[in-house]
Amino acid sequence: MPSPARSSAWVLLLCGLALLGCGLYAFSTGSSSSSSQRGLSLFRTHQQLVTPASDGAATAAGAQSQAHRLRGHQGSSRAHPLRVCATPGSIMSAPEDGAAPALRDQYSLWAQPKGRLGEQLKAEIGHLAARHGAPAFPPHTTVLGDIERPGGRQEVLAVAAELAQKVKKYRINFTDVTRGSIYYQCVYLSVAKDDGAMAAAATAREVFGITTGPYMPHLSLLYSDIPQEERAKAVEDGIVRLYGESSGYDTLLVENGYEVDSFAVWYTPVADKSLKSWCLVGEFELTG
Ligand SMILES: *[C@@H]1O[C@H](CO)[C@@H](O)[C@H](O)[C@H]1NC(C)=O
Repeated sequence: MPSPARSSAWVLLLCGLALLGCGLYAFSTGSSSSSSQRGLSLFRTHQQLVTPASDGAATAAGAQSQAHRLRGHQGSSRAHPLRVCATPGSIMSAPEDGAAPALRDQYSLWAQPKGRLGEQLKAEIGHLAARHGAPAFPPHTTVLGDIERPGGRQEVLAVAAELAQKVKKYRINFTDVTRGSIYYQCVYLSVAKDDGAMAAAATAREVFGITTGPYMPHLSLLYSDIPQEERAKAVEDGIVRLYGESSGYDTLLVENGYEVDSFAVWYTPVADKSLKSWCLVGEFELTG
């Protein structure tokens, strides 16, 4: 029969070993996978919020080398492509199965917000789209729409490149959240008719040889045919989320406008209200 003293020493030794084992186990799993990994993923989330090219760039990387005619600053300037057009140089826009009627070969020039503001506006557009059963689209202020050229996409890109050399970088300031009466101007942020924005639009019309109605610069938040009362509610909702005192960190706009340093060329057939065919064709840095 062991003495009581000796058996308590054994018990202590076993307890000590067990504790040491638990401690080592906790250290190896706990510290490396839970705390530091949580730290890392927080860091990643934060980075995605502030890195402009976080979403579209990755998915579209392959197609971009050909389709994305970016001058200069590659990494920093892409803003939220729906997707990049798959067939650069093609002037055919008919669906491959040939069943649906061909869409017209129409393009738009967009000034897209980047970085944190771009992320916030993208989220707001997503919020309104989900709420109203509407399609989401990348945030943009159209500089010129309804562009059609006999030479198709290649010609549009060539003229856009020429235009970008004639336009100086400029700033866009929002004035308010408001609503319009057509599908593509349902709810939007109006943009101040400042000299830079107006001059850019005038030069675009001149270079593309297009005379349209007066330029009404705006950044759309919702494309929909909902009735006016619902548009009015969506406007109120937008004001509260983007500017209101009760708006959260995620929705309150970091800035009431943005610098435009490039134009993006988008394939935007007007008849496709689903926007499924819309895609980025190229982007040109403004060097005027
Ligand atoms: C935009 O707003 C800022 C800040 O209010 C102001 O300084 C600037 O003059 C406005 N217009 C342009 C074109 O920058």
